[in-house]
Amino acid sequence: MTRPWSKSDWRTKPRIQMPDYVDATALAEVEARLTQYPPLVFAGEARALKAQLGAVSRGEAFLLQGGDCAESFGEFGADLIRDTFKVMLQMATVLTYGAKVPVVKVGRMAGQFAKPRSAATEVKDGVELPSYRGDIINELDFTPEARIPNPDKMLRAYTQAAATLNLLRAFSKGGFADIHQVHSWTLGFTDRDESEKYRTMASRIADALDFMNAAGLTSEQNIELATVDFYTSHEALLLEYEEALCRLDSTSGKWLAGSGHMIWIGDRTRQPDGAHVAFCEGVQNPIGLKCGPSISNEDLKVLIDKLNPENEAGRLTLIARFGAGNVGEHLPRLIRTVQEIGANVVWSCDPMHGNTIKSASGYKTRPFESVLREVQEFFAVHNAEGSHPGGVHFEMTGKDVTECTGGVRAVTDEDLSSRYHTACDPRLNASQALELAFLVAEEIERHRAGTAPVQAVSS
Ligand code: PEP
Ligand code: CO
Repeated sequence: MTRPWSKSDWRTKPRIQMPDYVDATALAEVEARLTQYPPLVFAGEARALKAQLGAVSRGEAFLLQGGDCAESFGEFGADLIRDTFKVMLQMATVLTYGAKVPVVKVGRMAGQFAKPRSAATEVKDGVELPSYRGDIINELDFTPEARIPNPDKMLRAYTQAAATLNLLRAFSKGGFADIHQVHSWTLGFTDRDESEKYRTMASRIADALDFMNAAGLTSEQNIELATVDFYTSHEALLLEYEEALCRLDSTSGKWLAGSGHMIWIGDRTRQPDGAHVAFCEGVQNPIGLKCGPSISNEDLKVLIDKLNPENEAGRLTLIARFGAGNVGEHLPRLIRTVQEIGANVVWSCDPMHGNTIKSASGYKTRPFESVLREVQEFFAVHNAEGSHPGGVHFEMTGKDVTECTGGVRAVTDEDLSSRYHTACDPRLNASQALELAFLVAEEIERHRAGTAPVQAVSS
C-alpha cells in the first residue's frame, strides 16, 4: 500500500536548518531551472544500491561511506576527487581482503554542500552574523554580504556535483579501479606506516591475481575485476534543491531523489513530523537516518514506519553517532527496538560527529583514539545483541591534512594549524583513514568468527 505523497508536501511542515531566501523571485527562477535539468542519478542505480544495502542488512556485505564534511566550491578539482576515491578504494580493499567481505562503497560526494549548524548566528570580536550553512547556501567569509543566502548557488552546486559524478563514473568503470591497479592506489605522501602495511597486502593480492590470470581469469573476461560500483550520497538538507531534482521514474512509477544515490536525514532534522522526514518518505532511494543520543525508542519506531513502511531490506540505514563512551547507553535500546518490531535495517557507525572537541590550540578536532573507541564500542554492542555491525561512516579526505589528532603518524595539537583546510568539521587524513580500515577489518573478522569480547560495553 503506497501512501499519498507529493514532492512538495514538506513545504507545509515545520522547516528548520534551512535558509530564508530574501528574493522569492530569484529562488523560483532557480527552482524552475533545476527542475528542467537532467537528474544526476538514474533510478536503476538507486535500486542497485538498495539491493546491495539489503545484503549489508543481512550481514553479507559491509558499508563504507565517507568523504568531506562539506564539499566546497573553492576546493574543487580532479586531484581532490581522485584522492578521496583512491583512499576509499584502498580502505575497501583492506576490508575485503582482511575481513573477506564485499564492500559497498558510498562517497559523501557530488552533493554534500548544505550544513546544519548548532547555532543560527556566529559571533566574532563582538560582531554577530548569520552562520555559514555550506557553499550551496552562503559563504564562509565573515562579512554580512557573504552570509546572505543566495539561491544561484544551487546552480553552481548542481554543476559541481555533475562534474564530480562524471569523473567518479569514469574512475569506477574506465580502468582506474581495476583490481590489477591495487598497487597504484597508494597515495604519494603515505610512504610510511599504514601504506607499508597496505603495500604488503597489495603484493599478496597481486600474487593471487597472477595465479588467477594463469588460470584464465582476467579483467577482460571478468567485469567484476575491472570495475567497481561507487555510489554518491549527501544530507538532504536543502529541500528546495532536493525537490527541484526529484523525478518520477517511469519504470517503477515511483519518485526518485535525482540529486544522489543515497540521501540521509541529519540528527538535527529528524523530527517525525518535520519537513525533512516528509520529503524522504516519498522517494525510493536508500535513506540514511542519523541517530544521536537524543533519539527516543518511540521516535525511532515512528520514523521506521514512516521511512520504510514496507520493511524493504536496504531502504533504511541507521547511522549511530553517540560519541565514545556513550554507545553502551543508547545503541542496545535502539537495537532492541528494531528487533522488537522486526525491522530490516542497516546499522552503520559514524564515529565522527559525537567526538568533536576544541583543542588547546583552539581548533575544532577529533582525537583518533575517540573515533576508534566509538567504532569498537559499536562492534561490541552488536556482538552482545546478536545484530549485524553493517558499516562505517567517516569524514575523511585523500589529502594529507592535519585536522584530527592522533593515529600512527601522530598528529599533535600543535600540528593542527599546519594543514587545517576543512570548510566545516575535521576530517581523517588518508593515513588515519587507512589505519582505521585495518582496525575495522579486525573487528569484522572477530565478529564473523564469533570470538569478539561481548561484555566490553554494557547497557
Ligand atoms: C554530518 O554528517 O556532517 C552531520 C552534520 O551529521 P549529524 O547530523 O549526525 O550531526
Ligand atoms: Co560533519
